[in-house]
Amino acid sequence: MRWDPTRYAAFADDRARPFHDLVAQIAWPAGAGQEAPRRVVDLGCGPGTLTATLAARWPSASVVGIDSSAQMLASAPTGPGLSFELGSIEDWTPGPTDDVVVTNAALQWVPSHVSLLPRWLDAMPSGSWFAMQVPGNFGSPSHALMRSVAASGPWAPALAGVLREDPVLDPAGYLGIMLDAGFEARAWETTYAQLLPGVDPVLDWVRGTGLRPALQALDAADPSGALTGAYEAEYAAALRSAYPAGAHGTVYPFRRVFAVGRKP
Ligand SMILES: C[S@@+](CC[C@H](N)C(=O)[O-])C[C@H]1O[C@@H](n2cnc3c(N)ncnc32)[C@H](O)[C@@H]1O
Repeated sequence: MRWDPTRYAAFADDRARPFHDLVAQIAWPAGAGQEAPRRVVDLGCGPGTLTATLAARWPSASVVGIDSSAQMLASAPTGPGLSFELGSIEDWTPGPTDDVVVTNAALQWVPSHVSLLPRWLDAMPSGSWFAMQVPGNFGSPSHALMRSVAASGPWAPALAGVLREDPVLDPAGYLGIMLDAGFEARAWETTYAQLLPGVDPVLDWVRGTGLRPALQALDAADPSGALTGAYEAEYAAALRSAYPAGAHGTVYPFRRVFAVGRKP
């Protein structure tokens, strides 16, 4: 799938907040036996801006961001100890010095992650930390409307089968996987009441992420953009009713699921 790092960078603060809340739960070096992790991996690192904060936190570690999008990695920052690899999450396996693995807002794009997780956790070294966050909003009005509008209209044939079913578990599901793998773990969910500025801000938000498969399919079916414009106009109207603008902006509640654990 094609990503657009410029569009993704819109709402950067709201997109970054769950990452910071996630990595704040990694309590290195408490009990780790070494001052800093040897290697830190950020799976599905996107443009790498947040990966760079891991290098700043652990300057002696080798910090690697992995992503399958060349467009996203093209704008990745450079810095000491920081590197990026073009690769797919499905092909990744933990190495013996991968002391911290972070994956933020990426595993929802990898339906097989539920079966990959036990293998990854099993292969990670003792003392390592695994921290993940996935959006848990596939049932929210923004995504329900994305699917229902997609299902009726002249765009429906182009969008058949393009928008996915909910690919993530509840916190208890991830907690169970981590506990079964022998990790000391905790999992939770947070709904962020995101205050977005501008006209049609929820449409702008999903254009950067969840709507991308639909935009790509519509563009392939009609490169003139007319079909995309017609679908977006109907979807935007539905979003305006579901998320009315208020005096301070538009509140877009966004549920996210977190799990963090340490291998004893
Ligand atoms: C919503 S962005 C999150 C980026 C970053 N982690 C952040 O928090 O800002 C999702 C990223 O996952 C990447 N991605 C999706 N599926 C992937 C896969 N199978 N293998 C590697 N990266 C993948 C996309 O290319 C994209 O950069």
